Amino acid sequence: MAVNTLLQSVNMASPQFKANPFPFYAQLRAENPVYRMTLNRPANNPLWIITRYQDVASILKDERFVKDRKNALTPDQMPKADWRPAFFHIMDNNMLAMDAPDHTRLRVLVHKVFTPARVEQMRLRVQQLADELLDTAAQNKHFDLIEHYALPIPLTVICEVLGIPAADIDKIHRWKKSLMSSVSQPLQRLSKFASFIGFLNYIRNLCHNRRVDPQDDLISALAQADENGEMLSDEELQGMVVLLLVAGHETAVSLISNGTLALLEYPDQFDLLRQNPTLIKSATEEILRYYPSIETATDRYAREDVTIEGITIPRGGQVRVVIASANRDPSQFENPDTLDLTRENNKHLSFGQGIHYCMGAPLARLEGHIAFNTLLARMPNLRLDVPIDSLQWRSGLTFRRLETMPVTF
Ligand code: HEM
Repeated sequence: MAVNTLLQSVNMASPQFKANPFPFYAQLRAENPVYRMTLNRPANNPLWIITRYQDVASILKDERFVKDRKNALTPDQMPKADWRPAFFHIMDNNMLAMDAPDHTRLRVLVHKVFTPARVEQMRLRVQQLADELLDTAAQNKHFDLIEHYALPIPLTVICEVLGIPAADIDKIHRWKKSLMSSVSQPLQRLSKFASFIGFLNYIRNLCHNRRVDPQDDLISALAQADENGEMLSDEELQGMVVLLLVAGHETAVSLISNGTLALLEYPDQFDLLRQNPTLIKSATEEILRYYPSIETATDRYAREDVTIEGITIPRGGQVRVVIASANRDPSQFENPDTLDLTRENNKHLSFGQGIHYCMGAPLARLEGHIAFNTLLARMPNLRLDVPIDSLQWRSGLTFRRLETMPVTF
């Protein structure tokens, strides 16, 4: 089918599409590498989808593409920007949604306190969690790999790093689950709204408490961090905590579950890693490349007219670069659709590029290394407990993540 006809019938955010988006991206790369599609909301806005490796890598580093839409809009476009009540600003008042100089200021402050040493301190704890979770899972021959392994490791770790009390982790998980659910009924909407308010109030109170009574944790360190007399405002601190909490575990859940799925799809690679655990570094990079947690990077906006592959994206144009497509581009990777845990020179884009390059990459890698090696050593005959075609993928443009992953061993 011609790519234009195909695109009209494709919903890139649907669970059906997410099950195997790769052939579609291959066709876009070949025939339509800068594709203009239309979003239903808001107001039929156009969205440019970019799929070739070189274009994705260069847009992520290109200062003509900004994160804060206000920095890109023309005076004519300005009134059409969405309005949100001030109460909700902590959800998007974070550095991933900002441009220089505010982005630079926040990133410098986080760098000062979210150090490699702080990440390395978590190594023993991640191993302990992986072992304890598998001890429990092993008591039952069937378990959901996400609920009982892939989720609790990064969620517990990021909560402990931030300084969220253990007793509150379940509450945080319930709120986040409700916030990420898609709802249609008025009662469900009301319950989602209540979760939202509960979550925001919790973060506000926690940040306030750490500001006045600092502990040995990342929130307190962020609250005290100072660069030339500049500190995070209350709103910036709250936004940072929300970003670190959500970015700090949702993506790692996908790394562990998508990665395990990839290994189960390639039994020879599963055995290779099980017999050679020292391959774990290149194995984790290859898993990140093959099934990236972030399928398309977050929205960017053209600050001026920009021409790519002969197509002009006008000033204000909204752009999504497809990491999952760039990572499978044959112009960059040999045999891109094959999982090869020994792949060298693996310049995947799964942690982004440029000024917004992932700040949690060392922690994510640490969690991946320990989670994969422990799982393979403890459950060498792990397998899916349902047909692979029946696995349900979450809807949405940004993440690629399974709802559940029933396994047995
Ligand atoms: C496998 C796990 C992870 C993946 C695949 C991942 C991926 C990414 C990507 C692609 C971006 C850039 C998005 C864009 O430019 O649109 C990003 C940014 C970010 N990530 Fe991660 N991430 C992971 C884990 C983490 C963890 C564990 C943390 C924190 C503890 C974290 C914190 C952040 C932050 C703070 C940013 C924003 C940086 C900025 O705007 O300067 N991430 N991540």
